[in-house]
Amino acid sequence: MKIFIDSADINEIKSVAELGVCDGVTTNPTLIAKSGQDFKTVLLEIINIIPGPISAEVISSDSKGMLREAEELAKIANSIVIKLPLTQEGLKACKVLTGKGIKTNVTLCFSVGQALLAAKAGATYVSPFIGRLDDIGEEGIRLISEIKELYSAHKVETKILAASIRNPRHVTDAIIAGADIATIPYKVLLQLYNHPLTDKGLAQFIEDWEKSGQKNIIS
Ligand code: E4P
Repeated sequence: MKIFIDSADINEIKSVAELGVCDGVTTNPTLIAKSGQDFKTVLLEIINIIPGPISAEVISSDSKGMLREAEELAKIANSIVIKLPLTQEGLKACKVLTGKGIKTNVTLCFSVGQALLAAKAGATYVSPFIGRLDDIGEEGIRLISEIKELYSAHKVETKILAASIRNPRHVTDAIIAGADIATIPYKVLLQLYNHPLTDKGLAQFIEDWEKSGQKNIIS
């Protein structure tokens, strides 16, 4: 059970690293574009902050182009995972990279059939997009359960990386449904910490302490 941050914002990534709960990072072309920095510069900065896997996505639509991009990205660091779209060309590239021992994350997965093909192509990770399925009236979490059932029944090693997470419930439901990893936007990660009863309980503890005249152990 792991938590990745879904971001290319260096300040967010630094802050999450300090929290000590982040096992890796996923980026995508939209997030890189939002960072306003050059792709390689962002990746180099992220690598210095988080020691775990960092997904970097290709933008070519043909497998040859994807493989050329993957070669350059893989040179940056061993922790780079090549993110490929779940298309015929993406899966062709996945098979080749897997054969070379390069880690892959097959992204934009919206069906159990697609997850089956990603596994056949030897993907290290498959990324089902929960939020985008919910947006069109489908059940993202159900997809996670189905992929888990299929992978467990056939001892598939591809890890399920729940993506497109919109709220704290998505995180816990995805993990309960069998996702190995949830990649979470910064805002949702912060929401996971919050509960009104925690705030209320803490305020009461401090109030009772102060009323009693007790002194802080470090004062
Ligand atoms: C996954 O790796 C993607 O970067 C991401 O989770 C997409 O989420 P969105 O649907 O919120 O854009």
